[in-house]
Amino acid sequence: MQSAVSVKDLKIAYGDHTVIEKLSIDIAPREFLVLLGPSGCGKSTLLNAIAGLQDITAGEIWISGKNVSWEEPKDRGIGMVFQSYALYPRMSVRKNLSFGLRVAGLPKAEIEARVTRTAALLHLDKLLDRRPAELSGGQRQRVAIGRALVREVDVFLFDEPLSNLDAKLRNELRVEIKKLHQNLGNTMIYVTHDQVEALTLADRIAIMRDGVIQQLASPAEIYRRPANLFVAGFIGAPAMNFIEGRIEHGGGAPVFRSNGLAVDLSRYAFRTAAAEGPVTLGFRPEHLLVDGPASGLPTISGVVSVVEPMGSDAVVWFDWGDQSLSLRLMGDTALEPGCTLAAGLDVAKASFFGADGSRL
Ligand SMILES: Nc1ncnc2c1ncn2[C@@H]1O[C@H](COP(=O)(O)OP(=O)(O)OP(=O)(O)O)[C@@H](O)[C@H]1O
Ligand SMILES: [Mg+2]
Repeated sequence: MQSAVSVKDLKIAYGDHTVIEKLSIDIAPREFLVLLGPSGCGKSTLLNAIAGLQDITAGEIWISGKNVSWEEPKDRGIGMVFQSYALYPRMSVRKNLSFGLRVAGLPKAEIEARVTRTAALLHLDKLLDRRPAELSGGQRQRVAIGRALVREVDVFLFDEPLSNLDAKLRNELRVEIKKLHQNLGNTMIYVTHDQVEALTLADRIAIMRDGVIQQLASPAEIYRRPANLFVAGFIGAPAMNFIEGRIEHGGGAPVFRSNGLAVDLSRYAFRTAAAEGPVTLGFRPEHLLVDGPASGLPTISGVVSVVEPMGSDAVVWFDWGDQSLSLRLMGDTALEPGCTLAAGLDVAKASFFGADGSRL
């Protein structure tokens, strides 16, 4: 199948400062791809290169089977939504939505039909005669999304479209964007540094660091099987717990040892067979089970330092040696600071990372 968007060996440098060295990615038609990573990792640079707003140093950008590397943004068949919505303040919502189409010289009837369709999709029908100053932040961002949608193109690009909104609006609009994608079936590339947006919206997430894609996979795969320590620590709140130790093979069965903890890995030997010496064990807060010891899992015990109730669940922090580890409990908990707890580690769900940080 032909990719909707294909980035081939892309290099982008500002003078002698290289932001993206050699990046390739293929995005399928109808896919919702999220670019996720810390500030400055090159997400906007990559998106702008696809949009044609950023000159490329080397490589190619293909959209719908056509090499558009040197095409103008308006000729690439994309619609783009930015973080700052920058609407025309003196124009009504209707005029804001239709502006680009009028400039492009589309027939009046076609413009009207598209504005009506887009307004209905974004619940803007009753606001068409208002000016931006008479709208809430969320409504303004919907108009900004509408300006991209009226172009009725196959590929939409979003650069942190929700980060100027408060938490409640962000959640509402996030669900609307997901519905929009389900209804329209366009290809969407969406930049964010918010992992909740990434996990909830994406078909696939590309996690970037310093201009390099660290892992490209479904949200579930990235959460369950992070490719390296960076991805493991970046995704998940609270973050994955890490314990440094060694894998020893003495006497046959491999064992992970750290600070009095011994985890028998004989059932997981296929993953750790090649590893000997220093490794990092990673496990999420929900992989520690308080009824664990009874079920024969390796036990980690410590003294509770902080309990964070979160409504549907609670995060319990406890001291293990000189490290603070977190554990997630569903519902209410009787645990409080000072209590001793013993938790079983669900080894099957844990991750191991080698000395170079990559997943074993
Ligand atoms: N015009 C420029 N000249 C030189 N360096 C630049 C320029 N624009 C961006 N950069 C650098 O390129 C790198 C990537 O920037 P980019 O804006 O793509 O990051 P980002 O991942 O979108 O970050 P954020 O989450 O903060 O928006 C940064 O180190 C930035 O300083
Ligand atoms: Mg950016």
